[in-house]
Amino acid sequence: KIAVLAYSGGLDTSCCLKLLEDKYNYKVVSVAVDVGQPEDDLKEPEEKAKKLGVLKHYTIDAKEEFAVDYIFRAIKANALYEGYPLSTALARPLIAIKIAELAKEIGADAISHGCTGKGNDQFRFESVMRAKAPEIEIIAPIRDLNLTRTEEIQYAKEKGIPIPVDLEKPFSIDENLWGRSIEGGILENPMIETPKECFAWTVDPKIAKDEEEYVEIEFKAGVPVAINGQKFDAINVIKEANKLAGRNGVGRVDIIEDRVLGLKSRENYECPGAILLITAHKALEQLVLSREELVFKEMVDSKYADLIYKGLWHEPLRHDLDAFVDKTQERMNGIVRAKLYKGSLRIVGRESECALYQENMVSFENKDMDQREIVGMVKFHGLQAAIFESLRNK
Ligand code: ARG
Ligand code: SIN
Repeated sequence: KIAVLAYSGGLDTSCCLKLLEDKYNYKVVSVAVDVGQPEDDLKEPEEKAKKLGVLKHYTIDAKEEFAVDYIFRAIKANALYEGYPLSTALARPLIAIKIAELAKEIGADAISHGCTGKGNDQFRFESVMRAKAPEIEIIAPIRDLNLTRTEEIQYAKEKGIPIPVDLEKPFSIDENLWGRSIEGGILENPMIETPKECFAWTVDPKIAKDEEEYVEIEFKAGVPVAINGQKFDAINVIKEANKLAGRNGVGRVDIIEDRVLGLKSRENYECPGAILLITAHKALEQLVLSREELVFKEMVDSKYADLIYKGLWHEPLRHDLDAFVDKTQERMNGIVRAKLYKGSLRIVGRESECALYQENMVSFENKDMDQREIVGMVKFHGLQAAIFESLRNK
């Protein structure tokens, strides 16, 4: 029997690899899906998988798809869940789709993942895997055997699995093009400040360079197409945003988050590009969209983030919301200027040919709009409040 394992080379999935052989009697085909994690994070699983004796290891390049069909949608919908730019959450459905497709292609008997029974990723993986390959069994060894991380480390040592974490630093880290998630270990105490060694994409604001850095982001139809006048493709525009914000210490997020299960958890994220691009995107929307659109879209954006967080990628409402969002983004062309300085990000300029902002109309120096014509509108503003007050004063 063959199991296709979603394999990152980390502790959880390395234990799964051996457990599938030892406890479940499966032969393992391992797969690493490339969603823009650092290069080493892709070579490592391949070498490790081979050392651990898999039948075959696949690396599937899904970077472009991740950037265009997932991250760009998240930018258009300003997708933030409780302040979290959804980096891990957004990549899970794509990884699940790729794994399910491969499992069908090679006629595998099972699909396996390394999620625990406490987190969110199990929901995201399994909902999509069941939708794509309902006939294939799903095995989650860590959850099945109710393993703790300490037990996993013990098992890894017994089996000669090289482990990237030790008992002192048992952080669970997940990375892709859109961000980096760090959790577990001492971070589980929400009163302990995140130690320096947790960060890799953002410099400590204190030692970031002393000059302010201006960044101009150009959007077309709601997605970033150029930075500082230089055109980039989807993958590279995100990489560039990560680099610029990261070197100025922008993009660290430390929050208490409400997991799908209802558990509150302490989460750390490094999402420099996501924070920069979403902040700039929102600034452009303020210039371009109508008041009614902005108010309504805020509800849509928050629902959108909620669906992504829960991993409900195939939920029909997600498609419905995409249709609404795409319609609003047709006019979202323009440039936003931001200023980055030692961990701070400020929007300092914006322009668009589709702006509803009209300088001549709003200017205090201009007479085209005759102030005297407004008097009637002002007179009856708050009519019901005025009547209410007069009744109360009787
Ligand atoms: N809490 C975050 C989320 O739900 C991060 C999950 C990180 N996953 C991981 N395997 N380390 O998206
Ligand atoms: C896990 O529990 O497998 C990782 C974290 C999460 O899914 O939220």
